[in-house]
Amino acid sequence: MLEKLKALEEEARAAVDAAADLEELKGLKVRYLGKKGELTALLRGLGSVPAEERPLIGKEANDLRQKLEQMIDRKESRLKDAGKSGQWEKERIDVTLPGLPTVLGQRHPLTLVLDEIKDIFYGLGFQVAHGPDIETDFYNFEALNIPADHPARDMQDSFYINPGLLLRTHTSPVQIRAMEKRAPQLPVRVIAPGKVYRRDDDATHSPMFHQVEGLAIDKNITFADLKGTLLLFAREMFGSGQKIRLRPSFFPFTEPSAEVDISCIMCGGDGCRTCSDTGWLEILGSGMVHPRVLEVAGYNPKEVTGYAFGMGVERIAMLKYGIGDLRLFFSNDLRFLKQFS
Ligand code: PHE
Repeated sequence: MLEKLKALEEEARAAVDAAADLEELKGLKVRYLGKKGELTALLRGLGSVPAEERPLIGKEANDLRQKLEQMIDRKESRLKDAGKSGQWEKERIDVTLPGLPTVLGQRHPLTLVLDEIKDIFYGLGFQVAHGPDIETDFYNFEALNIPADHPARDMQDSFYINPGLLLRTHTSPVQIRAMEKRAPQLPVRVIAPGKVYRRDDDATHSPMFHQVEGLAIDKNITFADLKGTLLLFAREMFGSGQKIRLRPSFFPFTEPSAEVDISCIMCGGDGCRTCSDTGWLEILGSGMVHPRVLEVAGYNPKEVTGYAFGMGVERIAMLKYGIGDLRLFFSNDLRFLKQFS
């Protein structure tokens, strides 16, 4: 009997040592210590042992039970620790690995150009003014001396919300708002950047695009001030060798009016495809603020004069960066946008 107990101990020790996981260990516990386990089965044979040997064998059996329990407990905690460190191994951070690249965005080409335009005019003492995208017929047309039968007032050319309200077709209404706000203070020097809307859609026209309006009102402002300001702008924006050319034009809210060209930035004026062999590129509309506009906005046209201009931001960006299709600005194609970082 004692030998059988000894053998059982050896067998159990080997099995517990070899147990690979908690599941297997649980099986061993049942097998050796359970109600139907091997130790219990051995002790059932105690009846055939001579009475005087029983106490000794009983004691040995109890000792063995305790040893087996300890053995299994110790193995259990070892398996549990191993499991935990396995977990840590999986979660460990390898600080020697290269980091994940941080994808940085960059400003949109239109924002870049707009910021540049603003900086140039800040340097000349201009402030930024804003007006609403949804504008009244009064500010968009009426106050700007645009007659009722003007084609821009046609439902086919503008986005109307109702007969008196529309998406502004230009930034010129901000001229009126800026003057109303300041009159009779002098001087007024504002630029008004923003979105404008027209019913157009092709490679060079988008239903929404951006303009920057310029307005200067003071005593004794002349056409020469307009010309000098625009020449400086052209040189800051496109390079110090720039020339400008003013062509007579017409806008209801300026008199006289001029369209302004810059010397072609592709060929320098020799003539090429970009400038259709003229050597010049049109970049903005301008003129001296019409007396009626000054009056509506609260200034006395007998005492003050002023100039105004309006330029297309997309057009300037296309020229500056050599972009052929206006729609690229609005397609959110990263291959395009990433070229401006
Ligand atoms: N508002 C005119 C346009 O959109 C541009 C302009 C602005 C012309 C100011 C003269 C003075 O075409």
